[in-house]
Amino acid sequence: MRTYYCGEINESSVGKTVSIGGWVHYRRDLGGLIFLEIRDRTGLVQAVFSPEQSSGELFSLAEQIRKEYVVLIKGEVRLRPNGTENKSLPSGKVELMVTTLAILSKAEPLPFYPDDHQTVTEEVRLKYRYLDLRRPEMFARLKFRSEAIRVMRNYLDNHGFLDIETPILTKATPEGARDYLVPSRTHPGSFFALPQSPQLFKQLLMMSGIDRYYQIARCFRDEDLRADRQPEFTQLDIETSFLDEEAIMTLIEEMIRKIFSELLSVTLPNPFPRMSHHEAMQRFGIDRPDLRNPLELVEISDLVQEVEFKVFSGPAQDKEGRVAALRVPAGVEKLSRKEIDECTHFVSLYGAKGLAYIKVNDLSQGRDGLQSPILKFLSDDVLLEIIKRTHSQSGDVIFFGADKAKVVNDSLAALRNKLGQDLGLLQGEWKPLWVLDFPMFERDQTNTRWQAVHHPFTASTISDIAKLKADPHHAMARAYDIVLNGTELGGGSIRIHTPEMQQAVFEILGISATEAQDKFGFLLDALKFGCPPHGGLAIGIDRLIMLMTGSGSIRDVIAFPKTQTASCPLTRAPSLVAPDQLHELGIRTKIAPAS
Ligand code: AMO
Ligand code: AMP
Repeated sequence: MRTYYCGEINESSVGKTVSIGGWVHYRRDLGGLIFLEIRDRTGLVQAVFSPEQSSGELFSLAEQIRKEYVVLIKGEVRLRPNGTENKSLPSGKVELMVTTLAILSKAEPLPFYPDDHQTVTEEVRLKYRYLDLRRPEMFARLKFRSEAIRVMRNYLDNHGFLDIETPILTKATPEGARDYLVPSRTHPGSFFALPQSPQLFKQLLMMSGIDRYYQIARCFRDEDLRADRQPEFTQLDIETSFLDEEAIMTLIEEMIRKIFSELLSVTLPNPFPRMSHHEAMQRFGIDRPDLRNPLELVEISDLVQEVEFKVFSGPAQDKEGRVAALRVPAGVEKLSRKEIDECTHFVSLYGAKGLAYIKVNDLSQGRDGLQSPILKFLSDDVLLEIIKRTHSQSGDVIFFGADKAKVVNDSLAALRNKLGQDLGLLQGEWKPLWVLDFPMFERDQTNTRWQAVHHPFTASTISDIAKLKADPHHAMARAYDIVLNGTELGGGSIRIHTPEMQQAVFEILGISATEAQDKFGFLLDALKFGCPPHGGLAIGIDRLIMLMTGSGSIRDVIAFPKTQTASCPLTRAPSLVAPDQLHELGIRTKIAPAS
């Protein structure tokens, strides 16, 4: 049918007779002449019909054509007349004099046309996603994604990894989110869970001696959605045997460097910088710092323990409290009073009760050169030390957070990101980072029990079970996260590989032996029958592609994503089901089923 893609036609094709197939992107009828811009996935080319050169029949067929019709066109490529070239198109110097035209499919008026997708809401774009995907930017993103996955596969194939599929209908795999459940017809009242990740299966594969596994794995998590979270997303999931964290990180880094160099011609650092979890929290208030942002938190708890200002001294004396400063260079000039008020409102969204600040107008004037509602509460010594520690200079603004450490970290980390963006402070383009030395456990929201910071199968640096049980609080995990420009790209760990240690960790997490047997009996069994030391990691492919293509959301790099409320406007999933289907599954719902 077709001999060329539209995007392949240029000056070198002049004189050739070509056949193209595609959508009518644009149509201009100048009475005497009809111009069509034909679009396929490679680009656009102009086709021309003139009464002199086209038969009456052909010309009147061309008159019937509307935007987004699918046509097959044969014609001769010629140079466009002088002065009519279109510099913005690769094919802009040439056009096709049409000799035959077939309308393959008509199109009713579209809800929106590729060029004016911005005039409709995202809901409409998702409802007609197949139309949205006709946009060249969308095609480019999907193509980029496919190419990135090809580089990953090649790399892993070359390093002896096997691509192995694991079940989608399975049992709960705890990664911290709610499960999506699927009722079983053959076992009424029982449910499968969709995997939150292939974690346990990939570990079992190591026990089978597979040694190096990978999978482009679909994961399902029922959690609150954000721009970088979808209920259904894709991981590059990896597991290896007999490799330690160094070897695994080296392997993964090399792959990421390769993806960046092959697809973006970007050279990432070798090796990637590393930082402990503790340092990341101290300096940035977050375990996934954006290192393009030069702003840093500075600890001042020790300085303000005795000050009169209770807002500071209270948290400074509290074991779980923190008082930290964030210096904004040239903030006096860059931040108006209104903007400072906006910052105060902004941090309140993260639970902060206020945002104290000092304007450093003129350092040479000592105390008189400073301006702040809290100045009167702070002695000269304390002020001097704050200035020294934060390296403040004349013209800077220093913000302060004082509260439980979590509130200070959350609010100042968010403020740091906001100011970095708003004030255009970001430096450099790509800043990857490994975050290491995570604690093994943290208190849950009710502060009544321990929960795993990574997941319950992660090994600790403490290999002695009694010691681990005696002091879970100080146990470190053999885990590593990979962070890029402030986004958590992936995470992994060395796993527990003895049933005794696995059982002990379950105990620390408050999972009774019976519950552990019920939920993870198969893993505990498998650990008894010869398990190599193993570890791995998973990279969020959607997030990686989002960052690499400069997209604002992972929805833009997924062909058919869900909305923020985890639904699909295109298929209208999830939907009510027929009563007999529910009956067959032995399910009764509180909400009336579809009739
Ligand atoms: P983790 O839960 O950290 O680890 O997930 C790994 C990576 O998957 C991506 N990711 C998501 N992407 C989009 N939407 C989501 N809802 C979402 N949730 C996670 C992130 C994240 O870094 N089994 C372990 C890995 C291991 O230990 O090997 C796991 O799933 O980029
Ligand atoms: P107040 O004593 O409440 O009038 O607060 C004096 C200054 O301290 C104001 O600028 C408040 O925004 C700020 N402030 C109050 N609570 C906190 C807090 N928890 N952390 C940082 N600053 C605060």
